[in-house]
Amino acid sequence: VSTDIQSLVVTPLGVDDDAIAAAYRVEAAARAYDVPDFPPICRHRHAGVIRHPWPGTQCHRFLARLDGHPVGVLNVEFTTLDNLDNAFADLIVDPAYRRRGVGRTLYQRAVEVTLAGRRKRLMGNTVGQLPGGPIREGAGGAFATAMGASPALHEIRRNLQLSDVDEAALDRLLADAYARAEGYSLVQWSGFVPDEYVDDVAVLAGRMVTDAPMGDLAWEKENIDAERVRADEAIRQLHGSRRYATGMRNDATGHLVALSTLALFRTVAHHAWQGITLVHPADRGHRLGTIVKIENLRYTLAHEPALKVIDTWNAEVNSYMISINDAMGFRPLDAWIDWQQDLTG
Ligand SMILES: CC(C)(COP(=O)(O)OP(=O)(O)OC[C@H]1O[C@@H](n2cnc3c(N)ncnc32)[C@H](O)[C@@H]1OP(=O)(O)O)[C@@H](O)C(=O)NCCC(=O)NCCS
Repeated sequence: VSTDIQSLVVTPLGVDDDAIAAAYRVEAAARAYDVPDFPPICRHRHAGVIRHPWPGTQCHRFLARLDGHPVGVLNVEFTTLDNLDNAFADLIVDPAYRRRGVGRTLYQRAVEVTLAGRRKRLMGNTVGQLPGGPIREGAGGAFATAMGASPALHEIRRNLQLSDVDEAALDRLLADAYARAEGYSLVQWSGFVPDEYVDDVAVLAGRMVTDAPMGDLAWEKENIDAERVRADEAIRQLHGSRRYATGMRNDATGHLVALSTLALFRTVAHHAWQGITLVHPADRGHRLGTIVKIENLRYTLAHEPALKVIDTWNAEVNSYMISINDAMGFRPLDAWIDWQQDLTG
């Protein structure tokens, strides 16, 4: 292993076009190598996220250069409205420059930034191979272990190829589900949630962390209110993303009690990321999860005719959500781990 860490320089990432392009090159090379079946990174959104961070986050970004050449990127993200003891690190090294200590150097910077921000825990995630699944080298997991982090949550990424979807099967699933969902009505929107439901969306989004399995991950309930929902929407517009949402309203109370969302990035028309799918505990048992998920797929397709693939993540143990995904035709692709390290011990 040739290590010449002397010529490695880590500097804060600027927001000028050159800095953003350098970060893009590193991330694109890593993605093509580590998860080749991911969609290409949307350049517009990539720059947008750097220039316009999500509300309630503070990002500390760095670029590592070896002999002047960009080889690694680090983003240490602090949430500022909740989870004040946590920091999340995104650490990526160009595959052509791995095993030379670049990752270790960036990790040390992540620890310094985390402690300087008076945060106690560092988190991050990595991809690994599933038995029989596409090859994943596993560098991230080996690296996280070498840095002393522990696996805290195991997730499976599932992928839906829309060419494989059996529409008649979806019709049957929906018909069965609607038979159990008397007293609820469908609500759909793209972009901005209607005013009358913004508080309900905040409640549902805030439950995501408490209701979905989180394993040993010390991630607290997020403080989400109507103002934060609106702030997120405004930033999403700046990122150039398009988002489609389907909810179910409890007709007796007037509240929106179920929600599923899909998002597409501006320059990648064939691919969508699954966002939240959640049913309020008081309204479970009416197949609302199945309804919002299938209806939202159809709603999105009506606006996005080029859509071909959807990616979603579920905790390994989230059997209810996984059974809906399986029935819709989602197939497991790879295994993801959320890592956690206590820096105070
Ligand atoms: C993980 C990653 C950042 C490592 O970058 P790197 O510059 O190669 O890391 P380093 O050279 O500093 O490696 C540090 C130690 O991690 C371990 N390690 C890293 N890659 C490994 C691999 N492929 N196999 C086994 N151990 C590995 C080793 O213990 C290594 O020390 P050594 O080379 O002295 O044996 C890089 O592979 C990457 O970008 N992967 C994709 C993104 C990712 O998973 N990031 C981690 C988020 S927590």
